[in-house]
Amino acid sequence: MNPTKPIVAPASDKTNAARRESLTITDNRTGRQYEVPVQHDTIRAIDLRQIKVNEDDFGMMTYDPAYTNTASCISRITFIDGDKGILRYRGYPIEELAEKSTYLETAYLILHGELPTNAQLEDWTYHVTHHTFIHESIKKFLDGFHYDAHPMGMIISAVAALSTFYPDAKNIFDEDSRRKQTWRLIGKMPTLAAFTYRHSLGMPYAYPDNELSYPGNFLNMLFRTTELKYRPNPTLERALDVLFILHADHEQNCSTSAMRGVGSSHVDPYSAIAAATAALYGPLHGGANEAVLRMLLEIGSVNRVPDYIKQVKSGEQKLMGFGHCVYKNYDPRAKIVKHIAYEVFDVMGRNPLIDIALECERIALEDDYFVKRKLYPNVDFYTGLIYQSMGFPMTMFPVLFAIPRTSGWIAQWQEMLLDPEQKIARPRQIYLGSDERSYIPMDHRG
Ligand code: ACO
Repeated sequence: MNPTKPIVAPASDKTNAARRESLTITDNRTGRQYEVPVQHDTIRAIDLRQIKVNEDDFGMMTYDPAYTNTASCISRITFIDGDKGILRYRGYPIEELAEKSTYLETAYLILHGELPTNAQLEDWTYHVTHHTFIHESIKKFLDGFHYDAHPMGMIISAVAALSTFYPDAKNIFDEDSRRKQTWRLIGKMPTLAAFTYRHSLGMPYAYPDNELSYPGNFLNMLFRTTELKYRPNPTLERALDVLFILHADHEQNCSTSAMRGVGSSHVDPYSAIAAATAALYGPLHGGANEAVLRMLLEIGSVNRVPDYIKQVKSGEQKLMGFGHCVYKNYDPRAKIVKHIAYEVFDVMGRNPLIDIALECERIALEDDYFVKRKLYPNVDFYTGLIYQSMGFPMTMFPVLFAIPRTSGWIAQWQEMLLDPEQKIARPRQIYLGSDERSYIPMDHRG
């Protein structure tokens, strides 16, 4: 029997006062029983290692490809209840933050755990704003890319290159250094993103303007031409800010896991962010909104939607922007995004693809195929339409995701570094390859 004492249920839990917080496992290979503690409805995988058939046995492991049922960390940053469609940062519902907060305030909350006071927000905004410039050599570095280089490839390389400019970033256990790299990363990501866009157009880079808001300055660096002072449209500025809030963190997704995994080797944060950005580049993660747009273009008109839905139901196609690994209800971000779409269309003109999207949603939400499988619109269903209306090419869509997610990545990285239980990430494997065999000389090989 496992000598570890079971964790007893809290006394306040009257109905379960006598409940033992443990799991009893019977190993049918040996007939032995083991009792492993349960905490937060979870057992520790390492507690299974004691389950052996004999002394030489390595011990029991769990097999969980893609970690779909494995908690890799304890986190206090983002909460998601996928069945109920709930998303909260540090306890605050996403709907309230999207309505009342700004991206910079939300980033502060995600990173520090509390909403800032006026003075804290002022200080935070000052420092982020005063770290938006990039070294002129980074500009030259960007110039080295082909005119048609994908902006994600450029931004991944440029963020990694930043580590060579800030060797102090290696001091990851120095709080002051971490704070400085955080200002730099959050400040410089929009600059790098805008410069990749200008590079693809062959336009001169537009430098940051410290008098503008975080999203306002981003719009300035993207779209400024000959005007002496760029004045962002307030609707577009706010729309972008809300989209940034919605994308700031999403707990242990693929790119965040990359950030934590790479960061667990104690590399500097620029290199870890480059890895996280690379993970986001993949079409299964940051590229879904582009796939939605391509799908809507392929459908082409509202009267062709029923045909397309038929193809989806017969398994020939996927309804892109529908379904989610975690949300089995309406993605709470999708509702907010849908609202923003109309505000942006009021300024930029109605994107004709919206009617096709609405018809897809209307049919899908009433159709048994989608209802049974709990397939609802996800955040990406409408973001592509908004970005396209704002004038962004599709290649910039994942870049627009990487900018705000930087705050979430850094918060998760910092939480990992300060967690005494965390170590260098090193999963196990089940080896099913060849057993030991002798080397075959070349002239004996078939
Ligand atoms: N269209 C049609 N059918 C779908 C869709 C879809 N978009 N998504 C899932 N299904 C079906 C599956 O075929 C499956 O049907 P079956 O039970 O008959 O085999 C069932 O629904 C369950 O699907 P799973 O693959 O188990 O769902 P999972 O949760 O693993 O997949 C995923 C989630 C990958 C997001 C999937 O829904 C999908 O591919 N959606 C389209 C792409 C997309 O929009 N991605 C963006 C996600 S949001 C983000 O990353 C920021």
